[in-house]
Amino acid sequence: MDDVTCTDTVVKLETWRNEDWQISCLLSARCDAPISNYTLCFSMLAPCEIVDGATVHRMTAGYFELGFERDVLGTGQALAFTLIYKHNRNPSNRSWLPKGAYLRMKDGSTLPVQIAPRGIDQAFTSKLPEQQANPSSDELMLVPAPKSWQPSGDQLDVSTGFRMDASWEGDGEADSAAAVEALAERNNIGPFFSEDGVALFFAKTEGLAEDAYELAITPQGITLSASAAAGAFYGTITLLNLKLVYGGKIPCGQMADGPRFEWRGQHLDCARHYYEPETLLRLVDMMALLKLNRFHWHFCDDEAFRLEVESYPELWRKSGMRGENRVVPGLYGSGDSPQGGTYSLAFAKRLVGHAKELNIEVLPEIEVPAHSWAALQIHPELRDAADESNEISVHGYLSNTINPALPEVWTYMETLTREVSGIFPFAHLHLGCDERPPAAWTKSPAIEKLKADHGLRTADDVQGWMMEKLASYVRSLGTRPAAWEEAAKGANGGIKNNAILFSWTQQGPGLEAARKGYSVVMSPAAHAYWDIAPSGNFNEIGLNWAGATSLADSVNWDPVPKNEPELEGRIIGAQGCLWSEVVLRDANMETMMAPRILGISEIGWAARDNKPDAALITDKAACYSKLFSAIGWRQDVRD
Ligand code: ACM
Repeated sequence: MDDVTCTDTVVKLETWRNEDWQISCLLSARCDAPISNYTLCFSMLAPCEIVDGATVHRMTAGYFELGFERDVLGTGQALAFTLIYKHNRNPSNRSWLPKGAYLRMKDGSTLPVQIAPRGIDQAFTSKLPEQQANPSSDELMLVPAPKSWQPSGDQLDVSTGFRMDASWEGDGEADSAAAVEALAERNNIGPFFSEDGVALFFAKTEGLAEDAYELAITPQGITLSASAAAGAFYGTITLLNLKLVYGGKIPCGQMADGPRFEWRGQHLDCARHYYEPETLLRLVDMMALLKLNRFHWHFCDDEAFRLEVESYPELWRKSGMRGENRVVPGLYGSGDSPQGGTYSLAFAKRLVGHAKELNIEVLPEIEVPAHSWAALQIHPELRDAADESNEISVHGYLSNTINPALPEVWTYMETLTREVSGIFPFAHLHLGCDERPPAAWTKSPAIEKLKADHGLRTADDVQGWMMEKLASYVRSLGTRPAAWEEAAKGANGGIKNNAILFSWTQQGPGLEAARKGYSVVMSPAAHAYWDIAPSGNFNEIGLNWAGATSLADSVNWDPVPKNEPELEGRIIGAQGCLWSEVVLRDANMETMMAPRILGISEIGWAARDNKPDAALITDKAACYSKLFSAIGWRQDVRD
């Protein structure tokens, strides 16, 4: 470090993964006068221990405040310290290095710290080469694969778009096509309809299922057949995709199509990272282009409650922004300045309306009983004051579980579920129920009494009792309950009440639940979690608890085992999930989803025998790079 005097103070934190897979850090400064009496604040992806060089003053999940024995830092000096992730977690990529660092001075002011990660190749890209030329493969480059396709060998030039004729008039089908036109326009992938476009006839065909359609593409024009607005929508979406992927000259042939599953979902964790409303609307557009039809909106978790509910305004007012002097500190890279936001009820309505036009329903989630750390900082009355369980969650939060033995908790859960049910017309509500820390409710006198009163033995029994009672309430509102796979636990058989369960750790818990009669959506992390890194390369971002989830992995699975066809009706679909621990900015969402979101589209829609293999999904993804670029989705944003 140069021994120079300077007018501006620059504090730097160099970080790298050392040969023992620990995190080495070097704090240094360039300044006129030495800096003293400071605390170093930053975040890690998960709880760590200090190996040497510093003392922990505070740790909240992965957020740290550290002190140093020599707390005077001048030009030419440096402080070294080392961290190691708890529970043998491996820092497999750049997401695991420190983020969002700053110094807090004794007077409460803050100083920015520049983080300089070592070992990162700025030129790294795992982005697929964009297919510039028109696809020449015999395979149809359409995601998801249609039920059947018989190419005629001809081509049709649709570069000027399509022209609807009188056959479209007077029905919801024309509105569907207009929604596709508007989608194309706002995403710069038009023109879709134009006066001098290719003739597009509509044939109402009663025998087809609601979501199904047929396309006859000939050199003379196109006929789209469907029985309902949904089928007309998916048929026009197909034409929009073909036009884009084939550069305006689409192959002619006969197509018959319809989805394998009713539930084709994409989830987004908007609690750990606040996404701009515009980003959510654009995600819904992308979902529509891939024929996905359920948006699972996860807006509350340990870190925040972001929906501006009227019943508990303190929840979002106090947890919506995090950082220095906030209820929620600078977790997951957010640093000192207030970062975050909340979603107004007007926006929720707009999102629902936007989605509905694109044949997509919105599933909101109110997460109970765990993952409630932020809510508990604001409403401590949701815990038994005499509870000494001191549970620590898998993310490292202390005491993050609300207590169903308390009347206040029932008021909270019922009021919130009632209000939120009223906002979302889909009339489905996800109640969370994942990852209750094993120690939760083990030392609560109120829980002991509840157990005695209701003949409950274990904490899982308490959870089963609670979920069943809450689901029964939600059902009484005319809303179908849903929850993560853990909600099937408990001697009572779990949540019941016609709930939909989401299998996330693997497929096994979902299969078990389906065998018991539950409706199940499959979201196995190793195939459908876009927060899991796509490979083991250090330059990637992402978690690793489920290994790596590559593009090939995203299609290399089947929601229903071939040898249990009786589960076909119970396993109602598949869903991709994006949890946001590794998301530092909205564009990271695009990089984590594209191209793997193509996989969930294929899994949810394509017939088992039409699902692409690893080679074909890679070819398709290269073609769809065109779509991602055209609508401005980045596949290479990692910082
Ligand atoms: C989950 O990933 N904890 C549902």
